[in-house]
Amino acid sequence: AETSNGAKIFEANCASCHIGGGNILISQKTLKKEALSKYLENYNSDSIEAIIHQVQNGKNAMPAFKGKLSAEEILDVAAYVFQNAEQGW
Ligand code: HEM
Repeated sequence: AETSNGAKIFEANCASCHIGGGNILISQKTLKKEALSKYLENYNSDSIEAIIHQVQNGKNAMPAFKGKLSAEEILDVAAYVFQNAEQGW
């Protein structure tokens, strides 16, 4: 996956709520490794798939991006989130 494209997709679609890997609506549910491991279902067994699932379907106050972003764009942004979670944003 292309993480530079992922960065652009993140800025355009995610940063409004997740600036710096945070979460402006539910402060503990950040995109940091510790939070993803704790709150995101299946993150510990298949991290990229778990992020893709959340982006496609949304959850509570987070909108679904299926139909808004292509499958390739969702993969790119998921890879970007995973890489930043590993690197500590
Ligand atoms: C949660 C990714 C866009 C609001 C999450 C989580 C991920 C994620 C991976 C799980 C975090 C955790 O449980 O610790 C993304 C990506 C986005 C995006 C990649 C862009 C494609 C947005 C936007 C909003 C938003 C635009 C606000 C309108 C939320 C909220 C949660 C959340 C409220 C917590 C959901 C819950 O468990 O109740 N996001 N997000 N997200 N996101 Fe996003």
